[in-house]
Amino acid sequence: MSKLVPAVRSGDVLMPALGFGTWQLENGTAVPLVEKALEVGYRHIDTAQIYGNERDVGAAIKTSGVKREEIFLTTKVWIDKFADGALQRSAEKSLERLGVDYVDLLLLHWPKPDVPLAETLKALNAVRAKGWTRAIGLSNFPSALMREAAALSEAPIATNQVEYHPYLSQKTLIATAHDLSASITAWSPLAQGKVAQDPVLIEIGRAHGKTPGQVTLRWIIQQGVIAIPRTSNPARIVENFNVLDFELSDDEMTRIHALARPDGRLGDWLDKAYQWDAD
Ligand SMILES: NC(=O)c1ccc[n+]([C@@H]2O[C@H](COP(=O)([O-])OP(=O)(O)OC[C@H]3O[C@@H](n4cnc5c(N)ncnc54)[C@H](OP(=O)(O)O)[C@@H]3O)[C@@H](O)[C@H]2O)c1
Repeated sequence: MSKLVPAVRSGDVLMPALGFGTWQLENGTAVPLVEKALEVGYRHIDTAQIYGNERDVGAAIKTSGVKREEIFLTTKVWIDKFADGALQRSAEKSLERLGVDYVDLLLLHWPKPDVPLAETLKALNAVRAKGWTRAIGLSNFPSALMREAAALSEAPIATNQVEYHPYLSQKTLIATAHDLSASITAWSPLAQGKVAQDPVLIEIGRAHGKTPGQVTLRWIIQQGVIAIPRTSNPARIVENFNVLDFELSDDEMTRIHALARPDGRLGDWLDKAYQWDAD
């Protein structure tokens, strides 16, 4: 198994194409799982203030023995802390909980109209200027708003972390990110486990000796998109990392793209003020 995870250019930083997601890993459960992920070879960990597990993620990084600078660590600011001042304090608290001097990437978790975007972007840039994060980015921003944020930001927008899996097209957002020299990071890349029962993914997997989950993750990273699967099962931590030693044909990629459907979105918590891209 090749352990060379490709790097994806994201603004002015490189992000490992495969990361470990930690949503819903609460009450200490993240500790052994993040340790295991780092042991297996993941070097990209995704957490958020709202997940309530920054302390656990930080503890696992410490005990793993992997050097801090070898890990790409992402956290996110929750939507009630987007005002100038509140955002900086929130970032500082995240660093305290994580027990690190800096994160690699700090994201705005969901767009929220309560505070002007210009004010939030200014505060986010101030956090970067302090050296508390190497890069800044967005999460769940539709294309028009992503362009607006990029225009308002002094530092490049590194990534937009959005739901992406075979059942949801993100054609427009992927093209927008490309235009802005940013990346897309796919959350719920396994459609929260639903891909495991998919006949097309099962069939393609058979041809490669891979599981439907592995085929899906390969399909994502082969597009130059970053995937951050989550599992509470140590065997699947290995399974989900073992996607670097095979390639999908153009025909297989097209067949997987064709699984997208209008009702494929799983997490629709976008503020009413905004609208998702049509495709
Ligand atoms: N920015 C945002 O708004 C946002 C929103 C959602 C998620 N995220 C991030 O994205 C990460 C991933 O998304 P997610 O946790 O929603 O969903 P996901 O990674 O698509 O799916 C996780 C689910 O799939 C199962 N699973 C894992 N590996 C599998 C495999 N190889 N085959 C079959 N089933 C498998 C897991 O069950 P087991 O535990 O039993 O393996 C779990 O129930 C999150 O953890 C979080 O870091 C961000």
